[in-house]
Amino acid sequence: MKKINIGIIFGGKSSEHEVSRTSAQAIINNIRKDKYNIYLIGITKQGEWFLITEDYDKIGNGDWENNSSKKSAFISPDSSFKGLIVDDGNGKFETIRLDVVIPVLHGKNGEDGTMQGLLELSQIPFVGCDTTSSAACMDKVVTNCMLSYSGISKPAFNWFYSYDFEKNAEECIKETEKIIKKYPMFIKPANAGSSVGVSKANNREELIEGIKKAAKEDQKILIEEGITGKEVECAILGNENPVASCVGEIAPSSGFYDYEAKYINDSSKLFIPARIPDNISEEIRKIAVLAYKVMGCSGLSRVDFFVEEGTNRVLLNEINTFPGFTNISMYPKLMKEIGVDFPDLIDQLINFALQRK
Ligand SMILES: Nc1ncnc2c1ncn2[C@@H]1O[C@H](COP(=O)(O)OP(=O)(O)O)[C@@H](O)[C@H]1O
Ligand SMILES: [Mg+2]
Repeated sequence: MKKINIGIIFGGKSSEHEVSRTSAQAIINNIRKDKYNIYLIGITKQGEWFLITEDYDKIGNGDWENNSSKKSAFISPDSSFKGLIVDDGNGKFETIRLDVVIPVLHGKNGEDGTMQGLLELSQIPFVGCDTTSSAACMDKVVTNCMLSYSGISKPAFNWFYSYDFEKNAEECIKETEKIIKKYPMFIKPANAGSSVGVSKANNREELIEGIKKAAKEDQKILIEEGITGKEVECAILGNENPVASCVGEIAPSSGFYDYEAKYINDSSKLFIPARIPDNISEEIRKIAVLAYKVMGCSGLSRVDFFVEEGTNRVLLNEINTFPGFTNISMYPKLMKEIGVDFPDLIDQLINFALQRK
């Protein structure tokens, strides 16, 4: 059987650059080498693109950047190339056709529709959500509005632009307190990830602090009712008939699931399945599939929820269109739990990319 040419793009100009590298390393380690020719495309934090032809084990730690054999390369938006344009170093360019691309990118400049837009122009099939759904899920205000309109329960929320807050802070605060009614509240930049710029406010002063912090990441600011309860996640795989995994629970060791808890102290615990009643799990799986459809997702996504303590209310938090893919990440773990191991998961994702219309 002819091998399929796969481009794996990782890194990128994003606060989640390091996570992307770790995800890409796990995919490289687990992909079936007998089925695919792999072309690794690393994007630095400065936004330079390189094709890497050796040191495949040095992606995760970032040492690939020191390899002198790397070559400048980029994906052409010109759909007649359908692939990579590589600078051979002698003023000439060679082209490499790609059958599929896996954009293993988290956050801005990769999970937000920008890379997906380029790949759509290039007409190379790619793994994961398309431009519109990636962009809509990246913007938490857009997600909240679309889901609420479709009857999916969310924590109460308000949003405004930081420049309007600067002009009239009092009105923004009053309106927010009127809608959300009680503290604690969570303040988030509409477009960010990995908890960067997210904070919890127990009173008005902390709310103002939180707004200023979020404004450093994005002009669009989201404020939500703080939910006390469990954080649970459901993995979705597929195009027209998406499959929902079982529900997993993440128990942060401290306060909330901030950047530190996610990637630095690694002390958060995962429970698979989540410690919630079966009927609540079923409800979550159904809502996750509905949300996936409402947002126009395809390929994969991880849908995150809160289950409120005391009431068992199920509230959707956010949708990650390219969730973490490391060996310890929730998405591959949930898939494994329903019988799809890592190499199979990659095969299936590639098939869904090739099948998507
Ligand atoms: N409305 C909320 N109520 C309670 N905790 C929240 C709320 N929103 C966010 N959090 C906490 O903050 C973390 C990060 O927020 P999230 O919206 O998931 O942003 P990110 O895209 O950065 O992961 C969540 O995992 C959760 O621990
Ligand atoms: Mg999150």
